[in-house]
Amino acid sequence: MSILLTGGTGYIGSHTAVELLNAGFDVILFDNLSNSEEEVVDKIEKITGKRPLFVKGDVCNQKDLANVFADAKNQGNPIEAVIHFAGYKAVGESVEKPLMYYDNNLVGAIRLLEEMKKANCNCLIFSSSATVYGEENIAPFTEDMKIGGCTNPYGQTKFMIEQILKDAAFADKELSIVALRYFNPIGAHSSGLLSEQPKGIPNNLMPYIVQVAKGKLPQLNVFGNDYPTKDGTGERDYIHVVDLATGHLAALKYALNHKGIEAINLGTGKATSVLEVVSAYEKATGIKIKYEIKPRRPGDIAVSYADAGKAKSLLGWTAQYNVEDACRDSNKAK
Ligand code: WQD
Repeated sequence: MSILLTGGTGYIGSHTAVELLNAGFDVILFDNLSNSEEEVVDKIEKITGKRPLFVKGDVCNQKDLANVFADAKNQGNPIEAVIHFAGYKAVGESVEKPLMYYDNNLVGAIRLLEEMKKANCNCLIFSSSATVYGEENIAPFTEDMKIGGCTNPYGQTKFMIEQILKDAAFADKELSIVALRYFNPIGAHSSGLLSEQPKGIPNNLMPYIVQVAKGKLPQLNVFGNDYPTKDGTGERDYIHVVDLATGHLAALKYALNHKGIEAINLGTGKATSVLEVVSAYEKATGIKIKYEIKPRRPGDIAVSYADAGKAKSLLGWTAQYNVEDACRDSNKAK
């Protein structure tokens, strides 16, 4: 049985490929390489001893998708399920280029659903985000809360795709869909071979700290210390990317044996402040992180963390690593 990973050479896709291969699934990585490198395939092979199939293609291109399903079938190993990671994900860029985000992310999801149906593939795991909880809900976020009202087009695409999936699952009772709402993925594979490779100056906290630790950036700017939180800095639910990957494996096993649609949080259930992340990094690596307090970043909320109960009860999954583990692994990555 083969599993298609769109965006499979990216940060979360590549870590998930490792867990799927280790669990005995055949894996096809489908990626247009717009934000990743093909050499990730060699690294996955180095870690697992198994080589996933790589297909260069675009989720917005119906032909590319049709070919990947047809080729797998012709080789006697049809695609049973898809994990859909492919999509644009930079919050700031989405504010500047909203049409590009709506076009790529929404069209990609719709084309994929169409081609899955044609290939009689009914099982889909979708990369959603905690950003769908918007600004009004109060953490811990539970899956039954009203979603939407995201502060940027990137977040809106995740919300809209969840809505599309819900409507698709209502209309077609054969479909089995899990939308995984990621909290803040951090960390890297402990081998040091796979990691997040942001182009240019990072926007997110952990990649920024890594560059300060490596002397590539002079200091961390901490955005606001006047939030109603334990130390005034923003609190988030940071989840190790390997935990996120095992969460996908658990969701896949669930979806292969059920019908209908579920939204499930992937988080630890714990909130960690920016200054606590800085301390954890220093403790894990022995490297001092220079920082300065700056004004709040527009669009940020004070506190975001998951109620992780549904993932535990439905999937039997809980996060195993803590922020310090993630800091150690991030620091190892090349
Ligand atoms: C975390 C905390 C910042 C950088 C974003 C997206 C979300 C998801 C994950 C996925 C906040 C503070 C940050 C810095 C800082 N996207 N910070 N200095 O904003 O929670 O979530 O990434 O693809 O949709 O919105 O993550 O890592 O940017 O920020 O003080 O240089 O760190 O203010 O409190 P965020 P983040």
